[in-house]
Amino acid sequence: MQAIIDHINRYRQQHIDDLIEFVKIPSISCSSEHKLEVERCARFLAAKMREAGLSHAEVIPTAGHPVVYGEWLGAPGRPTMLIYGHYDVQPVEPLDLWQSPPFEPSLRGENLYGRGTIDDKGQVYVHLKAIEAYFKARNSLPLNLKFIVEGEEEIGSEHLAAFLLEHRHRLDADVCVISDTPMLDKGVPSICYGLRGLTYMEVEVRGPRSDLHSGSFGGTVANPAQVLAQLIVKLKDVRGRLKIPGFYDKVVAISDQERSNLASLPFREKEFLELTGSPKLTGETGYSTLERLWARPTLDVNGLVSGHTGEGAKTIIPGWALAKISMRLVPHQDPDEIAELFTRYVLKSAPRTVRVEVRKLSAGRGFLAPYDHPAFQAAIRSLEKGFGRRAVFIREGGSIPFVGTIHDILQKPCILLGFGLPDENSHAPNERLNLDNYHQGIISVAHLYDELARLNWA
Ligand code: BES
Ligand code: MN
Ligand code: MN
Repeated sequence: MQAIIDHINRYRQQHIDDLIEFVKIPSISCSSEHKLEVERCARFLAAKMREAGLSHAEVIPTAGHPVVYGEWLGAPGRPTMLIYGHYDVQPVEPLDLWQSPPFEPSLRGENLYGRGTIDDKGQVYVHLKAIEAYFKARNSLPLNLKFIVEGEEEIGSEHLAAFLLEHRHRLDADVCVISDTPMLDKGVPSICYGLRGLTYMEVEVRGPRSDLHSGSFGGTVANPAQVLAQLIVKLKDVRGRLKIPGFYDKVVAISDQERSNLASLPFREKEFLELTGSPKLTGETGYSTLERLWARPTLDVNGLVSGHTGEGAKTIIPGWALAKISMRLVPHQDPDEIAELFTRYVLKSAPRTVRVEVRKLSAGRGFLAPYDHPAFQAAIRSLEKGFGRRAVFIREGGSIPFVGTIHDILQKPCILLGFGLPDENSHAPNERLNLDNYHQGIISVAHLYDELARLNWA
């Protein structure tokens, strides 16, 4: 192992320089204008997988953006590990809030700034660089490796389930490793055993044929902006619970054991509040902040537009109003079923004075799994070697549709060990990656491959 760790230490700066090249490619998956850049990014990554030492890497087309798949199966009789990540990134608006351009990665202090540095290109490179170190120092890996990196995670992984089923035979593995989550705090290595699911909806309210003079018509027709606001208000009660009938039917209560586990984590609520910049935290009555965030479903309006939002006063009744509304789900809630319950409830609540359309934009299931398999102990030992501290077990509030799907398909342990920090601005301006975490992450996963290879997989 020492030769591999020496290599990782010696090439610390090179690993950063190499990541910069990857981050420079604007692989924004939600933007059709960037389609060619997304494809270029996929080809770039496949080439880097081959350079790192994988015996095979290819760009596999899907109905959407391509999947990059690499493998090295040179350890017969040894276990097989499937690593997952995503090479697509979020859009960058608002651009004026970036201190350096999002696709011109910039080193400041102990961070690398740029879109995708932490979500998820930096974490894909944590694995790529650990793999490279093995091949440079030893010319082999201790186990068989399959590496899948998708290009549609940030838009809901719409075509991934079909891809996984189609390539089911190739993706067989004993264990799956995913690095796309944050750590609980700086210096606290974390293994994540739960993610929330997501159902994303759009509600459009149309009233008059077009905007109307509010003096000539005000008081006689329904105002779509106000109707939409009323529909939104009806979604949640004052205790922060959703009012959609059936919404909680499949929600599993948090066990006393888990409640006390979560309560014992070194979570700093005051810092969490400061991170948000909000005056005060709130949420569903009867639950702690971590419970609300990780183990309870919720609903958020992501965007709301209607009428005159420009300068000054303009007296109109808007012709239409639109809201983007998402629900974070907990495991066992079926995201498609939730979309139907939502649609039914909104349509039933809508007055006849307007026309309402409800559309489902995306749906992905949550994930929750026991962490008693020996592979998790291997992960704890590896993180301890990389970070000098014992890992904690956490859940997360975000979603990675791949994880629930692959866990269902393979029925094998899925280990989420992420190297992000809660304040690294993923999806926001000035996204960044802590370079110590990048380096210690590479060391940790190098140990992880070794530790997993040593387990008895019979
Ligand atoms: N890496 C995140 C998932 C994540 C975020 C995990 C925060 C834990 C904490 C991922 O790239 C992401 O942003 N996922 C989307 C998924 C959606 C588009 C289906 C999300 O959670 O909004
Ligand atoms: Mn991600
Ligand atoms: Mn993301």
